[in-house]
Amino acid sequence: MSEFPDSLAPDSEPAARAARPEPIVLLDDVHVTLPGPNGPVNVLRGVSLGVAPRETLSLVGPSGSGKTTTLMVAAGLERASSGTVRVAGRDLTALGEDELARFRRARVGVVFQAFHLVPTMTALENVALPLEFAGRPDAFARARKALADVGLDERADHYPAQLSGGEQQRVAIARACAPDPTLLLADEPTGNLDSDTGARVMDLLFAMRERTGATLVLITHDAGLAARCARTVRMENGRIFAPGKTPGDAAGGAAMDAEETPGTPGATKTQDAPSRERTEQ
Ligand SMILES: Nc1ncnc2c1ncn2[C@@H]1O[C@H](COP(=O)(O)OP(=O)(O)O)[C@@H](O)[C@H]1O
Ligand SMILES: [Mg+2]
Repeated sequence: MSEFPDSLAPDSEPAARAARPEPIVLLDDVHVTLPGPNGPVNVLRGVSLGVAPRETLSLVGPSGSGKTTTLMVAAGLERASSGTVRVAGRDLTALGEDELARFRRARVGVVFQAFHLVPTMTALENVALPLEFAGRPDAFARARKALADVGLDERADHYPAQLSGGEQQRVAIARACAPDPTLLLADEPTGNLDSDTGARVMDLLFAMRERTGATLVLITHDAGLAARCARTVRMENGRIFAPGKTPGDAAGGAAMDAEETPGTPGATKTQDAPSRERTEQ
């Protein structure tokens, strides 16, 4: 059948394997169940997602569909209750807290909607902090370079309160990108910015991504911004919305989900939980 001898079949060829490298993010059947006031809430209900090296992926979907939780699992900031979580070739479910923290500092940069800068630190100190935690001797030099990359070298000694929203988000982008992460995650990074500022800040995020070669997963409600990514994936009710279905199908499928924990009315609630955003990098 094959036109190749066995040893040259595309799957066994190094070149073929190189053409299909391991995804940077590999989530397989990930469930996250969290305690809620009315019992456990099935926040993620079997999320499977692969993101290739250097790919740019936007994650869209209604509020409460599990986008932030998915991002936090990929960041190693939220533990999966079950399922496979591999990021940059590491099985995150097998890492202890210290190892996970080291992994995050070296490999993952996160940009949050609300910036999450440390208010008592200057822009430079905010960017240098994760580099210092990572034990990089060149922390401040790298931080200065990253601030220059986002056009804020003149603002290095300003405190967050002395910066505009757009400038604060640029500092946060510098902080996320300074360690040269393999994976860059952004959770509604323009959500607190006016549209012009948001567009300029996103130009910077994409430019920084291009420069670092990082894989980008971007959560956004902005269709134009989502379209700047090579691929868009939609979430509904704690799951990746299967291609080819209409949102109604996805919701219906989820509603009939036999896995739903009995007596958990919170499972399909659509409130954003304010506690979700973390300051930790
Ligand atoms: N710590 C938590 N405890 C219980 N439920 C939570 C918690 N965090 C989020 N949820 C719930 O999980 C669902 C998905 O949340 P989230 O991942 O933040 O969705 P999205 O980012 O798509 O808005 C929501 O219904 C939310 O209320
Ligand atoms: Mg969210």
